[in-house]
Amino acid sequence: MNINDYEPIYHKQWVLDRINFIKKMFPDNYFKDKSILELGSCWGDIGGYFSLLGADVTMVNGFDFYYEACKNRFPNVKNIKHDCDSEWIYDDHYDVIFHMGLLYHLRDPKKSLIECQKHCDIMILETVVSDFLDFIEIIPRTEDINLCQDQGLNAEANFSADFVEKYLINYTRYDDSSLNGKISGNYNWTASGNSGFRGRRFWICDIKNQLSNLTNSLLKNS
Ligand SMILES: C[S@@+](CC[C@H](N)C(=O)[O-])C[C@H]1O[C@@H](n2cnc3c(N)ncnc32)[C@H](O)[C@@H]1O
Repeated sequence: MNINDYEPIYHKQWVLDRINFIKKMFPDNYFKDKSILELGSCWGDIGGYFSLLGADVTMVNGFDFYYEACKNRFPNVKNIKHDCDSEWIYDDHYDVIFHMGLLYHLRDPKKSLIECQKHCDIMILETVVSDFLDFIEIIPRTEDINLCQDQGLNAEANFSADFVEKYLINYTRYDDSSLNGKISGNYNWTASGNSGFRGRRFWICDIKNQLSNLTNSLLKNS
């Protein structure tokens, strides 16, 4: 599938830039026949593209609207409606987990990071973080908010990149301007550790050393 022929719905350029970045980090045809779990897939733009490359994709949405949208748009892809804050209900193992734009929606980001890495070889993680030195206490959300339906309205990201990285296995962070989105925000910002500014971060966690076991060209342009 030529990326130039692909039409994402959600923040088109940002989606395409992230797809291109991911493709650049892996060898050609890497994703063919790979099992991918995409958590918080929204319109299915990213997982849907990789399914067209031949990956066996499972999309997860917590919100009816997006669950139905993904089912209609990608009928050959597995779709699950599930709150990613609750217990693990998916297959035991995936080659790759896409965990993008979700962490800052969750009540328990630490649990999600630990759990996901138990169940995959590679996790591609993207999130908003706050520019604080370390962990800042997650502000408990009120019980009556259905997080699956808030779609990010309460997405405050009260955690720093340092907090996230404490729980990541064999990771590389890419503060790469090619990922920057007009609306989503920038990745190539310098942390001061105390501004409270919220920006985005992107990591690849090579949990089972899949990438380092392959040729160095896998990490070209890193
Ligand atoms: C900011 S969008 C990110 C979409 C896509 N992953 C991307 O990076 O472009 C967040 C998505 O996560 C979903 N979501 C938020 N909280 C969730 C939860 N607790 N369980 C499952 N999905 C959730 C939202 O409905 C939305 O589709």
